[in-house]
Amino acid sequence: MTNDDVHKCLSVIRDRAPGFAPRIGIVLGTGLGSLADAVAPVATIPYSDLPGFPIPSVSGHAGTLLLGRIADVPVALLHGRAHYYEHGRADVMKVPVRTLAGLGCQTLLLTNAAGSLRPQVTPGSVMLVTDHINFTGVSPLFGEPGNDRFVDMVDAYDPALRDRLKAAATASGVTLHEGVYIWFAGPSFETPAEIRAADRLGADAVGMSTVPEVVLARHARMKVAALSVITNLAAGMGDAPLSHLETLRVAAARGAEDIRRTLLAFFADGAG
Ligand code: HPA
Repeated sequence: MTNDDVHKCLSVIRDRAPGFAPRIGIVLGTGLGSLADAVAPVATIPYSDLPGFPIPSVSGHAGTLLLGRIADVPVALLHGRAHYYEHGRADVMKVPVRTLAGLGCQTLLLTNAAGSLRPQVTPGSVMLVTDHINFTGVSPLFGEPGNDRFVDMVDAYDPALRDRLKAAATASGVTLHEGVYIWFAGPSFETPAEIRAADRLGADAVGMSTVPEVVLARHARMKVAALSVITNLAAGMGDAPLSHLETLRVAAARGAEDIRRTLLAFFADGAG
């Protein structure tokens, strides 16, 4: 079923952007839609034309596949992701990730909004994800046949890509923090007790996305990197109440610009 959908999506895309061969896939997180402006467009395809692509129900997620170039590097940009909490399906991004792999993307760059567990890493900061903790207990590969499902997750966040992103951030004057991202199911924010538990487990930032796409991309043998915009201090750590509107506002206002500059420098350097 999934793979039939992927084949149909590939043929829709090949019809709309004949001969276009993206090398890098990008997933835009909550409030980071302005990054799409950095792309010189070749084609824009609504998810509704792509069988198996989820129609995002979360504000800040458009639901379009944008094909184009950033600094001459051909990219496929998922403007809008769906989350586990929207339908209770961890594999909701399976068709989009496999479609990007099928188009020839060897690398997937993910962005997200996250809460910080480090008081010194304040809202507006950007964090390069070094590793993750899947706190939900679910996998997008549940039900997947074959031995490939036993995906090796060591160095899931590719060390060479991380080095290149760090260099790009330095070159653009952007401070890039590094840390471990923990995935909670949501959609309610965490309790302060859950955040204390996450801290003891070794997490630096908390969010409701990204981990399923990383597992799917590693299963598809893509290289992966992820950047988090810190939109708030995690539950119980700050005075401000947590809200989706605040997440959108901080991501759009501060971190998005630093991520845009970092990615532009990364792509200007050839993007690997
Ligand atoms: N928790 C979970 N997801 C988030 C947060 C948070 O504090 N901030 C932005 N996304």
